[in-house]
Amino acid sequence: MIYNNPFIGLSNFVSPIAMQVFVIAMIALVILGTLLDIIHKKNVKYFFNNAKKAKKNAKIQLTTSQKTSVILKTVASDIATTSELGRGKRRLAHVLGMYGTILFWIGSLVMIFCYSSPSSETPSFWPIIWHVGALMTVIGGGWFWFFLRVDVYSEAQPWYRIIKADLFVLALITSSLTGLIWSYLQSLDLNDRWDDKVFLVLFIVSNLVLFGGVYWSKFAHMFYKPGAAIQKNLAEADGSRDNLPPPADAPEQFGLGIKREEPKHY
Ligand code: HEM
Repeated sequence: MIYNNPFIGLSNFVSPIAMQVFVIAMIALVILGTLLDIIHKKNVKYFFNNAKKAKKNAKIQLTTSQKTSVILKTVASDIATTSELGRGKRRLAHVLGMYGTILFWIGSLVMIFCYSSPSSETPSFWPIIWHVGALMTVIGGGWFWFFLRVDVYSEAQPWYRIIKADLFVLALITSSLTGLIWSYLQSLDLNDRWDDKVFLVLFIVSNLVLFGGVYWSKFAHMFYKPGAAIQKNLAEADGSRDNLPPPADAPEQFGLGIKREEPKHY
């Protein structure tokens, strides 16, 4: 199964061009959903106004090389390792899901655009990347959804309570899981049986929900978060601190109560 390029099997009844058009349509949906979200929330407008205001309060003028160094450090830490989530399982689950998704999407792009005609030979590297990525996404996303969601972890809600905020993580997990099951059933060579077709349909539907639901889901955080992290670190480096007051010049004493339980009430 892990060496199976499922898009080759699909090309028996769907042309590679149709698959490629589907991928382009999904990318277009992400761009459209993000633009609508930006217009609706006015978050990018706020972000740039705030950055402009903060620039006036800058204590030092950063040189281009200082700015580049801050940006590179942000990419290496805040973005590549989601350091915002601190140490521990929340960050580990996110990193698993994030890199899993990136591998799964890159594997899909390469196999659909380069190796989806019935005559093509797929180097085994790409199906492996695709399957490992899907598995990492299912594990990281499932770990987050079943155990680490704030409403489950801190508010004692049952894991099966589904709200609109779960749209992104659920569509992400479902698209990887149905993709994996589809590939597995296809690799069994079931010929005219219907099982793999059912999972193919579920795979397509979950992708439509994932990429078509950007406006309503948390999908766009993967674009906003890196921008916000870069701005925050630049504001710290130039002393403007995003127009926030400096930390109090006092010892951090919170009393003994803070030791009673792990902080998890957000
Ligand atoms: C392919 C890229 C990414 C994927 C697939 C992804 C996936 C996810 C998922 C599934 C969630 C849980 C959403 C929910 O609350 O229901 C999440 C939350 C989050 N993501 Fe990402 N993410 C990506 C990129 C990023 C980046 C680049 C950053 C930061 C620079 C980031 C920071 C966060 C943070 C801070 C949360 C909140 C976590 C929490 O509530 O514990 N993500 N992400």
